[in-house]
Amino acid sequence: MATFTRLLGFLRPYRKSVAAAMLLALGAMGMTVLLPLLTGRAINSINNQDGGRSLRLLALAIVGASVVRLVLSVGRRLVAGRVSLGIEFDLRDRLYGHLQKLDLGFFEGQQTGQLMSRATVDLQAVRFFLGYGLIFIVQSFLTILLSAIAMFILQPKLAAFALIPVPLVVLVARSYGRRSRPALQEVQQRIAELTAEAEENVSGVRVVKAFAAEERQLERFTHRVTRVFEQAMVATKLQALFNPLIAFLPNLGLAAVLLIGGRDVIAGRLTLGGFVAFYAYLLMLIGPMRTLGIMLGAAQRATASGARIFEILDREPALVSPDNAPGPPVDGLGRVEFKHVTLTYPGTNRAVLDNVSLDVPAGRTLALVGPSGAGKSSLVSLLPRLYDPDSGSVLLDGADVSTLDLPALRSSVAIVGDDPFLFSASVHDNIAYGDPTASDEMVRAAAQRAQAVGFIEALPEGFKTMVGERGLTLSGGQRQRIAIARAILSDPRVLILDDATSSVDASTERQIKEALQEVMKGRTTLIIAHRLSTIALADEIAVLEAGRLVEHGSHEQLLERSELYSRIVEKGLPDAVFLTRKPVETEMTGL
Ligand SMILES: Nc1ncnc2c1ncn2[C@@H]1O[C@H](COP(=O)(O)OP(=O)(O)O)[C@@H](O)[C@H]1O
Ligand SMILES: [Mg+2]
Repeated sequence: MATFTRLLGFLRPYRKSVAAAMLLALGAMGMTVLLPLLTGRAINSINNQDGGRSLRLLALAIVGASVVRLVLSVGRRLVAGRVSLGIEFDLRDRLYGHLQKLDLGFFEGQQTGQLMSRATVDLQAVRFFLGYGLIFIVQSFLTILLSAIAMFILQPKLAAFALIPVPLVVLVARSYGRRSRPALQEVQQRIAELTAEAEENVSGVRVVKAFAAEERQLERFTHRVTRVFEQAMVATKLQALFNPLIAFLPNLGLAAVLLIGGRDVIAGRLTLGGFVAFYAYLLMLIGPMRTLGIMLGAAQRATASGARIFEILDREPALVSPDNAPGPPVDGLGRVEFKHVTLTYPGTNRAVLDNVSLDVPAGRTLALVGPSGAGKSSLVSLLPRLYDPDSGSVLLDGADVSTLDLPALRSSVAIVGDDPFLFSASVHDNIAYGDPTASDEMVRAAAQRAQAVGFIEALPEGFKTMVGERGLTLSGGQRQRIAIARAILSDPRVLILDDATSSVDASTERQIKEALQEVMKGRTTLIIAHRLSTIALADEIAVLEAGRLVEHGSHEQLLERSELYSRIVEKGLPDAVFLTRKPVETEMTGL
């Protein structure tokens, strides 16, 4: 019920339109109620000896009333349609706007398809109900009420018989609602799972193909489809039973009225016209009762969907900055400090960073090395506050990042990830992502410094070339250089490069290294390094292992005091070294 009331809240901006639609609906309904009355009169006038004059007039009146009803109904549908689409628009905006505010932790816990399903299927159900369903419900309800009143005025005794089934209909409809709502909610949930499955299959198509797993994927998908089918059948069975039942009950009243009313006509206590008018009212009840049943179903569906949408809207962003928070200190040059930071990812219970402290002076370059899974990426993600540490603090130029304005903080820190994401847009737009107003010259200059101009110009349309979804058309090394250009263009105070040379050949590596040297100038740089050539770019080196900082110093210092580091340098492949070596303690005592 609370969900339902909240859903009604979405109608608030459309109060006037809703009122107009209601008025139009009432007008149309007035005409509907008038028609049986006119019909009854017309039948009685058959016996008038006026050469069919009154019959003609009444026929004209019926046509008139019908035309008015037609016009009003068209108007109502137009107005209601606008409201419905307006609500869809608002809801989409709100949902998307809210999603943008949510933290990474939220998205990692969600399947893309689930979110898409809420943004489409559930949204449709809500907007249909609020735009059309509600008006139908009011209209049907009033039609039933007015017909009942008219029937009581015309023939109180008959009316009493005719209306006996009504409370039954209400009871049956209620019990239907109680069963169908959870059933429908489950249908929506399974559709969402199906969407998620489909989305993953399409996104992961390369893996599917590479492992020739189409059959298996199809099986999994069929399983999901079956689940939707089965649950939809549960809902359909409920519908199949209840809807005809709701339609059937009024027929009992109909039979009673025919029997009793017919005898009244035979006995001359009732005119034929009066009887037909009454009968027409009774018939008129049946349509709205059905509509009411269907629309109450739509209300159930909308409430179920609304609950799923509110689940997202009610999710508070876990990472917010205080109101009117300042940006990073303006005279700062990019000093980065981690003070005793510990991090546990949301939804897990193992700390991936354990009391890590590091101080990187402004303008310096720090290389982070360590086996995969050591927490290198996690550590650097704390600086732009992609996550917040459980304890400890992260400082940029002396200011705790959690006290800074989030957009300002993030625009002073750029991350080039190990698998950069490119949008379905031109190379130019991808580079200018951080600053869409950048001129062609600026974009070109950034690409130049990232050693990317060479290959970009070799593309079919140069900077205007569209790179496909996820930049599938470019190689990893090319995407990395575009991402570096993107970072250069945003001119951050602190640059973070994750694994930037992990997957490229020697000549690309040299180019990327040159690009890095170029971008490191005049700013603080944190490089997550896997190769000696990249490590060599750094002023100092920190070695992370299993979430702890185990070594920290210059290349020479570490060579001298750490056999472990010497081995990394010799082999150049820290992962391999770490994976086969003895635990740290043994090694330390062995020194
Ligand atoms: N978003 C996440 N949610 C939960 N666990 C994560 C997440 N990202 C990384 N981890 C876990 O944290 C640990 C450190 O990962 P990461 O920082 O990526 O290591 P590295 O970059 O050194 O390879 C790993 O055990 C990884 O499984
Ligand atoms: Mg990593």
